[in-house]
Amino acid sequence: MIIAVDGPTASGKGTIAKRLAAHLGVPCLDTGLLYRAVGRQVAINGGNPDIAADALAACNFPDKLLEDEILRTEESGSLASRASVHPEVREALFKRQRAFAEQPGGAVLDGRDIGTVIAPDADVKLFITASVQSRARRRWLEMVEKKLDHEEEIPLSEIEKDVVARDARDINRKDAPLKAAPDALVIDTTTFDREAAFEMVLEAVQEALNKR
Ligand code: C5P
Repeated sequence: MIIAVDGPTASGKGTIAKRLAAHLGVPCLDTGLLYRAVGRQVAINGGNPDIAADALAACNFPDKLLEDEILRTEESGSLASRASVHPEVREALFKRQRAFAEQPGGAVLDGRDIGTVIAPDADVKLFITASVQSRARRRWLEMVEKKLDHEEEIPLSEIEKDVVARDARDINRKDAPLKAAPDALVIDTTTFDREAAFEMVLEAVQEALNKR
């Protein structure tokens, strides 16, 4: 059983994916973290994420990097978004994601192209979205609460600009753009609280599993 959870940045898809995986007792992969590690590794190498060769060279980042809190920063998200544009990078990360999806017992994966590219054969496809303003606000609150970007607090208006830029890059890239698979259930969490959104997800998953 493969469950794909896609959607734009800060839509709440990560939280939903983790809760769903815990509920079903299956492992969960945050694929954004892989792209964040690539983006960060480019910076460590002194490269430029807009250059395909630099981004590709960063795909063999050490696994230890995945545990580094620095990957959660806005800067790492932005580096990831730039590095993820290159088809070479997406191809290099494909096998790892596909192997995770195919493991016996099933898995939940969250990202941008799980339902369209990594697992078009997923049993359940969810596309979690929300307005730019509410996503920027969530990201900002999360950063303030966790004090992620230690240096200076980034103003909400800056986060909103970054969300818009990341959406544009993710939606408009040629290879594996961010879009809902035709058979995905689209859930807009702008007006829902977390519990209501999760209830909807659970219902959809249950329905899909009953049909199997
Ligand atoms: O989801 P997260 O914000 O951690 O992702 C960081 C960036 O990685 C995204 O803005 C997107 O450009 C890229 N990404 C992607 N495909 C995925 C997951 C993330 O292109 N499956």
